[in-house]
Amino acid sequence: MLRRFLDRLAATPRGRAFLLQFLVGAEEADEIGVFDQLVARIDDPQLNKLAFKHRADEERHAALFKACVARQGVDVASLPVAPSVIAFIDEELRGFGAKFVAGKRSVMEAYVLLQVIEERGVAQYPWFAAALERYDPASASVVWQVARDEENHVRYAKAISRRYARSSYALDATLQEFRAAEERAIERHGRAFLACAVDARLLDVGRAEQLGWQLLVMLGGRPRLPAVNGLAIPAEARAASFT
Ligand SMILES: [Fe+2]
Ligand SMILES: [Fe+2]
Repeated sequence: MLRRFLDRLAATPRGRAFLLQFLVGAEEADEIGVFDQLVARIDDPQLNKLAFKHRADEERHAALFKACVARQGVDVASLPVAPSVIAFIDEELRGFGAKFVAGKRSVMEAYVLLQVIEERGVAQYPWFAAALERYDPASASVVWQVARDEENHVRYAKAISRRYARSSYALDATLQEFRAAEERAIERHGRAFLACAVDARLLDVGRAEQLGWQLLVMLGGRPRLPAVNGLAIPAEARAASFT
């Protein structure tokens, strides 16, 4: 069902602009400066370099996705704003970002949260890329390349959270807690995202199928990633270098 949903969304410039604009939002969702705080608080020089690179990567990803949106030639202001996945996660964790910036949550906790978010990106981005492939190969190749970076970010996040954990027990407990919160956020966000796309008629489908998607929205359902996530990043995307 996810494959069908993404295919119908990616089939038109408006649908692609909506999806890509959502990705811009996910990449630049740091208005309150969590990354700046991380770079300031990580005193280990090696790990500080990773945090610095991580922040730079996310800024670059947002710029790359903005260029993909622009390529669709769509007036973005005429599109609904996709619900922010980061906002849902932050809400589940009762305002984690603000607490972190206020010095009330640790570097370990911030990087455990980033690990969970990056892992989700690694699982989801290949599906977005695969859907775009048929209609906009240039944007698809950008998403593949970003997915490759997100794999590296998972590694950075693990290294930094491990280094700043008081104990492996604290690390495991936080990971478990944040994974559960993120899972709840993804569930709620998935329903909101579907409702937004369906209500704005962004899926390129006939009347009968539109009604089917509306019914799914009414029932509170959402398209899910298959249990076995079999999409691998193609070798060309792995080998490609950013300019
Ligand atoms: Fe990113
Ligand atoms: Fe990332």
